[in-house]
Amino acid sequence: MHLIEVMDLKKFYRSGLFNRQCTRAIDGASFHIDRGETLGLVGKSGCGKTTLGRLLLRLIEPTSGKIFFDSKEITRLNRREMRRLRPRMQMIFQDPESSLNPKMRTAESIAEPFRLGLRGRMSRSEIEEKSLELIDAVGLNAEHLNRFPHQLSGGQNQRVVLARILAIKPEFIVADEPTASLDVSVQAQILRLMMDLKSEFGLTMLFISHDREVVEHMSDRIAFMEKGSVSWEEGLNSIRDIC
Ligand SMILES: Nc1ncnc2c1ncn2[C@@H]1O[C@H](COP(=O)(O)OP(=O)(O)OP(=O)(O)O)[C@@H](O)[C@H]1O
Ligand SMILES: [Mg+2]
Repeated sequence: MHLIEVMDLKKFYRSGLFNRQCTRAIDGASFHIDRGETLGLVGKSGCGKTTLGRLLLRLIEPTSGKIFFDSKEITRLNRREMRRLRPRMQMIFQDPESSLNPKMRTAESIAEPFRLGLRGRMSRSEIEEKSLELIDAVGLNAEHLNRFPHQLSGGQNQRVVLARILAIKPEFIVADEPTASLDVSVQAQILRLMMDLKSEFGLTMLFISHDREVVEHMSDRIAFMEKGSVSWEEGLNSIRDIC
């Protein structure tokens, strides 16, 4: 069963004087991601990977084409319907600090989805207990709960991001170069953790990286992107030139 289905998706950016320049960041992508599957997306810098990831979560609007999430065409949903769907799809960014609120301690970041009621009504002690469970699941401990993002390392912050995402409990994650800003040794730890969490929680994932070896390690299937065009391992898409 497909969780994500994409049909002839296009995203053109207009820029420059009188909007005369046009970058065909995505030019006719069609593919699907099955439930529980990790689709790897490899490609050089500037080829459109982040654009595709953002489109799938409707963080940006496509120029044309259709995107289905769990059989719902997300580009047709209104703001309220989209807000309801949002917790089911999350993004992990390259730089963990940019996705964490600098004024929130680890404990608050992790507890926020619970406090907002995303997981139903929970008492204070239940939230505390669940937060400790999650911090432990991502390899941190109670001592880190009291710290702000600037008091943690990049790898530790990415673990906090993962714990927060697990608190939200999405079905689909776009991981956009989640380890690119980290030290090689920490990269391996975070990737291993992501693999464990994925199998434990049955997540579906689009895993983006320019490092083919990492993508091969993480993914069930791989798609390749080139400047402004997409080519899929299984020939799902045609290769086109940029405009
Ligand atoms: N908001 C924007 N306005 C205009 N052009 C944009 C915008 N965002 C991205 N682009 C262009 O679209 C193309 C794809 O960008 P994108 O960020 O998706 O690439 P990427 O594959 O994620 O690159 P990287 O590996 O460096 O992260 C690039 O040519 C970029 O300059
Ligand atoms: Mg990118």
